[in-house]
Amino acid sequence: MKSALVSAPRIVRSIAELRKEIRAFRLAAGPEATVGLVPTMGYLHEGHASLMRRSAKENGLTVLSIFVNPLQFGPNEDFERYPRDEKRDVAVAGEAGADLIFMPQVSEMYPRPPKTSVIVSGITERLCGASRPGHFDGVGIVVSKLLHIVEPDRAYFGLKDAQQVAVVTRMVEDLNMPVEIVPCPIVRDADGLALSSRNVYLSAEERKQALSLSQTLKLVPGWIEEGANASELTRRMRERIGEQPLADIDYVEALLYPDLVPPDADRPLKDVLKNDSVLVAVAVRFGQTRLIDNILLTAEKR
Ligand code: PAF
Repeated sequence: MKSALVSAPRIVRSIAELRKEIRAFRLAAGPEATVGLVPTMGYLHEGHASLMRRSAKENGLTVLSIFVNPLQFGPNEDFERYPRDEKRDVAVAGEAGADLIFMPQVSEMYPRPPKTSVIVSGITERLCGASRPGHFDGVGIVVSKLLHIVEPDRAYFGLKDAQQVAVVTRMVEDLNMPVEIVPCPIVRDADGLALSSRNVYLSAEERKQALSLSQTLKLVPGWIEEGANASELTRRMRERIGEQPLADIDYVEALLYPDLVPPDADRPLKDVLKNDSVLVAVAVRFGQTRLIDNILLTAEKR
């Protein structure tokens, strides 16, 4: 539960000051009080707000981090033009219940180029890991830094980046980091488009055609029920998304979750789902904008 001790969101730019604030909160609020972290790259939308609201409900202190992490962008990606709007972000964060907003400069997070790597193998080999080489190494180092800096009891991540959730959860488990990773549902616009800071890049026509992602993912449970195996399912999905003239498909895959390995090729996915969860994930470019979306189907037996 939220404590009355901290109310207005406070902007903090240095690691030292952030640690001081969190220490003061823990001292004042006592040993039962918990800290939640919502790591983001800013340009906040309702998906981020849902993570903050959940953290504010479950913890005495919610720390929002806003940091566009250069290490997770490839050389030809959108680091420079990634959308930023500090003023708006502060307003969204305040409304959603964040107490502290950590907004460091690159020089604060990386005073020197790090010589330490945080590499989660296997899980990072397919999907965005294959299309964006080095991306998850950048995510690994920044998330582990944030977890060491904030020392939260819980950290909240959206399942639109289901591979990221799998990677971070495994990293925390492998390194015995004392934090619970809380996966949270994808938030969508009324027409079904999964919320993303990058949606702002889309032209009206690209946005219209991008609806094919959520519309196709909606058909997945029915196709699985009809007996599709992974290759039949992804073939149908490619065909459907490919009907949009602007859609340039990066990947369409059905993989066991959270290890992200392919299921038996011939086995109908409805049989696979008796024991294993399956992630059906897509990445598609519309013009300059690469969008991802997915549906996570959970195993019947858990
Ligand atoms: O999901 C994101 O916004 C980023 O990958 C994260 C977790 C904030 C790390 O930079």
